[in-house]
Amino acid sequence: MLLAVLTGCTNDSESDLVEIANPDPDPEPFTLTYNGRIKAIIDGQCVGCHADPPRNGAPFPLANYDQVRVRVDNGSLLEAIVKLTGESSAMPPSGRMPQNTIDLIDQWIDEGALEE
Ligand code: HEC
Repeated sequence: MLLAVLTGCTNDSESDLVEIANPDPDPEPFTLTYNGRIKAIIDGQCVGCHADPPRNGAPFPLANYDQVRVRVDNGSLLEAIVKLTGESSAMPPSGRMPQNTIDLIDQWIDEGALEE
């Protein structure tokens, strides 16, 4: 019965078969990193002002890992992004990022704010 099913398979489904036949026995847990996910968010949402040198009155740059890490470690980065739009020093000033983006940064910080 099993043989009949296998013989019925075409080459098209070979890749599916390989995947099923060789499941990763110990998959690496997905690690959030600055280089992997977070830099793109900060670059897109923050570095317009928090450039190096900063623009538009921003008080410091967030243009690389070390600069971001300073604000992660003193707690100000997370504090600023969880504020509601319009609250003083809510970041970015134009409006709160989507909750899942905020959650991702929160999780990244929780997991040690790794660079790579
Ligand atoms: C449109 C320009 C602009 C953008 C975009 C922007 N900022 Fe700011 N940021 C400022 C300015 C101006 C200040 C200082 C005045 C204030 O605190 O409101 C500031 C202050 C801050 C502070 C200090 C807050 C405090 O309580 O002292 C943090 C942390 C911060 N920004 C993080 C971010 C992060 C993270 C992003 C992206 C998610 C971001 N900012 C995006 C202009 C910006």
